[in-house]
Amino acid sequence: MSVHAHVFKGLEGVYVIDSAICLIDTEKGALYYAGYDVRELVEKSSFEEVAFLLLHQRLPTKSELEEFTSRLRASLNLESKHIETLRKHADNKDTLTMLAMLMVLEGGGKKGGDPGDLEAAINAIAKMGSFFSTIIRIRSGGDYVPPRKDLSFAENILYMMNGGEYRREYVEILDDLLILHAEHGVPASTFASLVTASTLSDLYSSIAAGILTLKGPLHGGASEASYAQALRIGSAERVPQWVESMLAEKKKIMGFGHRVYKIYDPRATVVKELIAKHAATMDSEAKKLYEITQALEDYGQKVLAPRGIYPNIDLWTPILYRMIGVPPDSFTAFFAVSRIAGWAAHILEYWRDNKLIRPLHLYVGEQPRKYLPLELREGS
Ligand code: ACO
Repeated sequence: MSVHAHVFKGLEGVYVIDSAICLIDTEKGALYYAGYDVRELVEKSSFEEVAFLLLHQRLPTKSELEEFTSRLRASLNLESKHIETLRKHADNKDTLTMLAMLMVLEGGGKKGGDPGDLEAAINAIAKMGSFFSTIIRIRSGGDYVPPRKDLSFAENILYMMNGGEYRREYVEILDDLLILHAEHGVPASTFASLVTASTLSDLYSSIAAGILTLKGPLHGGASEASYAQALRIGSAERVPQWVESMLAEKKKIMGFGHRVYKIYDPRATVVKELIAKHAATMDSEAKKLYEITQALEDYGQKVLAPRGIYPNIDLWTPILYRMIGVPPDSFTAFFAVSRIAGWAAHILEYWRDNKLIRPLHLYVGEQPRKYLPLELREGS
């Protein structure tokens, strides 16, 4: 009998895996991928190299990186079956659900459980990028543009999304965002992927579970919610009154708070630095968004930081997403294009020593109860 059982609501404070993929230093406010500081990776590395690092938990040699990059690039190509499906569903505005569906179809009945299935991981990472770019391209009335052999992953995402054109200065922003979002331990989406993978479902379906879990506004969907919030606020001057009314109604401010950081999210610092670096390319929409976001950060911190609630990465990312041309209803989908590297790495790592994830629940209902025939029940 489980009289001494304790329920950890939301699994708060519970370690569910051991993993060599990422370390979050919640005291200093730092994030490491397989031992490398994400700030250094943003500065010196590329998404291709970081994806290799996460999957192998070590940096590649020059020839390994070349081979990995060319496999990733080759898998960016879409076949006519993909393009037909994308065209058929492009008017469905729920980009993440579309990506999840496309991922499951891509799996095509493959088996799960192989920790060495790098081919599936590489194909899934690349396909997520080309599905995302092509959905945006088709929705804007264009046709599928195949990737180019001479372009990096980030360049190809922009190139395919914009029908063969892109601004060079946006490549760095996109690549840095891809690196920054690639991994973060076991948030809800990664945990959902692992729950699915632990049943020995296939890698693509496990990733689809992650995509659908990312969608919610308490997790990856916060970037879209935070953008909508800035539009609703409308101007920097309105921020204090707006924050006070939200808090009075016990509503949450999007882009604030985090389950593991009770300090400023270190990823938000990197995003702010990127915005400052590229400030010259901001249009009037991005500038207005910036003013509102800065006012929200200042006032929100004043009232929420004493409770350990600080700005998180999703307060600031909408500005960069708008700058590089990601439509607001696809912000979270962009997050998935990056986080798939972390999901795939965790799934393969988990399969090295798989154990079905099957927690317990504490029954709090009545029992035992006597079954009454329908005609004898009250109100019959
Ligand atoms: N605004 C106002 N109050 C907040 C906020 C917020 N953003 N976040 C937490 N709180 C308050 C809650 O109202 C609650 O107050 P109470 O104790 O008086 O009831 C208390 O802080 C604890 O909140 P929980 O939601 O239980 O704490 P948790 O650790 O689960 O919160 C979460 C983490 C879900 C991210 C929360 O901070 C939140 O909802 N933030 C807004 C959504 C958001 O920005 N999510 C993105 C996270 S980053 C990412 O996933 C990429």
